[in-house]
Amino acid sequence: MFYFSIILASFIINGRCQQTDGGKAPRILLNDGNTIPAIGLGTFLGFDEHGQKKVEPREIEIPVTWALNAGYRLIDTAYIYGNQDQIGVAIRKSDVPRENIFIVTKLDMHDQRNVISALKKSLHQLNTPYVDLFLIHFPIAFKPNSEEFDVIDYLDTWKDMEEAKRQGLAKSIGISNFNISQIERLLAHSEVKPAVLQVEVNLNFAQNKLIKFAKDNGITVMAYSPFGSLFSNSSIPPPPRVHDPLLNSLAEKYRKTVPQIVLRYLTQRGVVPIPKSTHKDRIEKNVDIFDFELSPDEMDMLSNFNKDYRLVWPSFWQDHPYYPFEKKSKPDPNPFHAD
Ligand SMILES: NC(=O)c1ccc[n+]([C@@H]2O[C@H](COP(=O)([O-])OP(=O)(O)OC[C@H]3O[C@@H](n4cnc5c(N)ncnc54)[C@H](OP(=O)(O)O)[C@@H]3O)[C@@H](O)[C@H]2O)c1
Ligand SMILES: *[C@@H]1O[C@H](CO)[C@@H](O)[C@H](O)[C@H]1NC(C)=O
Ligand SMILES: *[C@@H]1O[C@H](CO)[C@@H](O)[C@H](O)[C@H]1NC(C)=O
Repeated sequence: MFYFSIILASFIINGRCQQTDGGKAPRILLNDGNTIPAIGLGTFLGFDEHGQKKVEPREIEIPVTWALNAGYRLIDTAYIYGNQDQIGVAIRKSDVPRENIFIVTKLDMHDQRNVISALKKSLHQLNTPYVDLFLIHFPIAFKPNSEEFDVIDYLDTWKDMEEAKRQGLAKSIGISNFNISQIERLLAHSEVKPAVLQVEVNLNFAQNKLIKFAKDNGITVMAYSPFGSLFSNSSIPPPPRVHDPLLNSLAEKYRKTVPQIVLRYLTQRGVVPIPKSTHKDRIEKNVDIFDFELSPDEMDMLSNFNKDYRLVWPSFWQDHPYYPFEKKSKPDPNPFHAD
């Protein structure tokens, strides 16, 4: 035990662990004793005019291969992304041992009454006996194979998540898209605390309150849509865009790209960004952010971009009793529907 403690202590410096997984990112200690790489690859392809984009053969397998070669050790997926089989193939074909890769997947919203069998379905697609992190994708639920709401208390879903961890099917368990009062209720009524909360965090959606709340409760935050509206051509979302002068002056100073500055900023805030790209050069650059450090003044300047502007805002679900976000007076049409 004594020697074990010394070995453990030597890996953990200020809550950051030196990685021994062969990747580029340090690891962060979770509240259950497991560690998570400080950055990961996002794999959701998004929507087009027909609804959720169809995944073409090898469209995700090839970027995941590039990512593993570039030093990523965290891959973020979900049942609903329809790409778990390709991620499984990329991992099997790679030279990186399974135990050095941190796989995150999420519970399908249509399967909240069948957590264990839903997870086993994901494990089968991923071709692995366990995932490193299993998240409740959303606090709201649908009936199986249906667009009809189902009302399932997320406390009941969480009991099955705890069982998934007990059975070793998921090393860590967590939540996504939960709000503060939902997490408070979960903490008050659970045996296993969520290790991770995955929510939108980017320059114009800082999530200051939620991140502080998570930190105070020992929950690590993963930042989805970490670029926010950085590459948007629309005039509606607030700045910054990739041409922003402040971002470019920092990029020049550190000889980095603007996306690298943004991702470095997020990791220095202590959150785990999961930038998505299917371009090799971008995938390689996005992970190469661990050889420079933004100053406290620069961190402050970047924090001033916050406008509490939510980009991922599925208001078409807002009539569900467990809908976690602010409600809109006129909800948006549902992009999941192909019509
Ligand atoms: N839990 C949830 O409910 C939830 C919700 C949303 C997202 N997520 C997860 O979070 C991941 C990331 O979020 P996201 O995909 O919404 O947005 P994102 O990662 O912030 O942005 C992705 C966009 O940025 C572009 N991009 C990436 N790196 C770039 C670079 N270096 N230079 C220029 N453009 C670059 C990508 O284009 P290319 O691909 O063409 O390079 C893509 O259009 C998702 O893939 C998914 O895994 C989870
Ligand atoms: C913005 O416009 C450029 C040039 O037309 C295009 O390449 C890019 O994909 C667009 N970005 C988005 C987020 O639609
Ligand atoms: C959090 O979610 C609950 C539903 O479980 C909702 O009643 C509440 O209004 C939400 N809080 C905020 C701040 O949106």
